[in-house]
Amino acid sequence: MSHDALPAMTDVPATCNVLLLGTGGREHAIAWKLRQSPRLGTLWVQSDANAGLAALGRRCDAPLSPRERFFLKSWLDKNDIHLVVVGPEGPLSEGIVDDLAAPNRRIFGPTREGARLEFDKSYAKTVMRLASVPTADGRSFSNYEQARTYVEARDTPLVIKASGLCAGKGVIVCEDREEALAALARIMGSREFGDAGSTVVIEERLSGQEISVLALVDGKTITVLDPCQDHKQVGEGDVGPNTGGMGSYCPTPLATDAIMEEVSRDVLVSTVDALRREGIEFRGVLYAGMMLTAGGPRVLEFNTRFGDPETQPLMARLQGDLVEILWRTAGGELDGNELSFDPRSACCVVVCSEGYPGKVRPGQVIEGLETAAKVAGPGEDVIIFHAGTAKDPQGNTVTTGGRVVSVTALAADLRRAQELANLAASRIRFPGAFFRRDIGHRVLAAAGRNPANAPGRG
Ligand code: AMP
Ligand code: GLY
Repeated sequence: MSHDALPAMTDVPATCNVLLLGTGGREHAIAWKLRQSPRLGTLWVQSDANAGLAALGRRCDAPLSPRERFFLKSWLDKNDIHLVVVGPEGPLSEGIVDDLAAPNRRIFGPTREGARLEFDKSYAKTVMRLASVPTADGRSFSNYEQARTYVEARDTPLVIKASGLCAGKGVIVCEDREEALAALARIMGSREFGDAGSTVVIEERLSGQEISVLALVDGKTITVLDPCQDHKQVGEGDVGPNTGGMGSYCPTPLATDAIMEEVSRDVLVSTVDALRREGIEFRGVLYAGMMLTAGGPRVLEFNTRFGDPETQPLMARLQGDLVEILWRTAGGELDGNELSFDPRSACCVVVCSEGYPGKVRPGQVIEGLETAAKVAGPGEDVIIFHAGTAKDPQGNTVTTGGRVVSVTALAADLRRAQELANLAASRIRFPGAFFRRDIGHRVLAAAGRNPANAPGRG
């Protein structure tokens, strides 16, 4: 079903009951911002939510599996839910937005056809090619032998990507042909990522700074949010294996006005228009993972949801009523609604469990959560967003996963925001806790070399 099939909607309800799906730091940040809205009625969160998120909403215990949509729809009706906000890509790829559509509620997120931009990288490359969106040269293969032959004929560095969803793990950046063949063997030979690797995208390897450009799209109108930079590698100085994200900051001065103009026009508008030509009205978040190459900005990937940990600094800085913003996006009514952001810089530092991104030992008691935010000085703020936390039977907050909390600091400039986030993060203690102290280092180092380029306010 397309969003078009829905009848015209009424204005934002004065008291809007919201169900928020997803249980990570991203969702805690969204819930924190929703709670500031005077229009928020009851906020419902997933029953297995993290401790921070759970404290902000009531638990929805309806089943979420795609086969049990009837029960979830009955639950939405019974609880008079006006707006469902879908955080993660999994339910989007299962078509939850199509399934839950009804005249009496709005669902924030793209339909399954729109979400395909994220869950099918091969399709995303086709859309980009048709729309002349700047991206790495690449080809898709569903046949292992043909993929091998292609790799063997190439002598420039390649990136091998499983086409399907792999929780950020299905991309292998290779130095040479041997590595590329080994990557192909992992994805298509031993099926390390299961069916997600039945098709691969093989791309030229690009180099440059990476930025995340997220936009709210209501089908026609595109509102670009302030640009962020994520830090995916586990170690300081960007070394070690990739993670779900060790920290981020917003805004990033790497994305100049000219770059944002180009990304907006050549990537976001072109892609949304190309989808429209195919009869797909995209509503929700369109997130372009960009690399700023010497030849200009290039798309590395699309996501069709808010990023994690980009959402934490974005929500910390977003001004205005999030209930209304998400409601209007979901209903195709963004036009004329400008967004504004706090002029301060936000830096988010993710405190992780020992062993992450590998195996971790959950159940560690976390201390310092209540006091960590107190390090903020006048005109500054620190917000502790939970991700992998839960309450144990004794009432302690304990770790449940690799990424435990995302400490987000707001300050006059990035340098101070980083310092403040690090200070607060160091007050959150549990056995094996670690975090990167260098979030934002690429621009801070450049600013150090040339004070005229110091990353300052907004
Ligand atoms: P993706 O999930 O496609 O964004 O890929 C994950 C990470 O792999 C990106 O954040 C980049 O660091 C890297 N990557 C992806 N595609 C390329 C590419 N064509 N060239 C260089 N690095 C890439
Ligand atoms: N921050 C990367 C992602 O959300 O996919």
